[in-house]
Amino acid sequence: MGPKRFAIFASGTGSNALNLVQFSRLNPHLISVELLVTDSPRAQVIAKFTAQGVPVAIVPFEKNKKFHEAQILKVLAKHNIEWIILAGFMRILSQDFLQKFYDEKLDRNRVLNIHPSLLPSFKGANAYASAFAANVTHSGVTVHFVDSGVDSGPIILQKSFPRLPEDTLENFISRGKQLEHEIYPAAIRLLMGEKIDECR
Ligand code: GRF
Repeated sequence: MGPKRFAIFASGTGSNALNLVQFSRLNPHLISVELLVTDSPRAQVIAKFTAQGVPVAIVPFEKNKKFHEAQILKVLAKHNIEWIILAGFMRILSQDFLQKFYDEKLDRNRVLNIHPSLLPSFKGANAYASAFAANVTHSGVTVHFVDSGVDSGPIILQKSFPRLPEDTLENFISRGKQLEHEIYPAAIRLLMGEKIDECR
């Protein structure tokens, strides 16, 4: 069996997305990143993928969610995509969309997300800022399967980090991002049946 065919959905700076392209290049037996899907023509991630030679599909939101998701599904079908990785894609995918990626053996959708908190705490947007503002002693990052709720699917991996007394929001986020870049590849390794050194 060859590597699974992945699409990454991202609409921001794309640090996780690019990190996963690099991971796929180092582990060509595991995954192949075939496509970037973005809804934002101005997203910084586009230039990063173009520079890597990975195809980019820009699918701006048009008409309504059903129409938009149908456009995305067409592109995914064209590239025979088996798995989806969300990495800063700021839209909630519908149940209709997700069920196209339902895997009976896993009893999960083959759609992954990374969220910058220790779920179930701080779901939704701006999770780093919310955790920081709440003066938590620890925060963390979580990779989970996507269901039709908001940041609510089954958890695959989580890693925590302390909030230091001298932390600014900026270095709190940057410590979290470093962990994001570790656990997304680790979670994919796990799902592809490989052992990893660390556990939840
Ligand atoms: C990350 O913090 C991720 O946890 C969240 O969106 C952000 C994307 O950041 N879902 P980047 O574009 O990968 O740097």
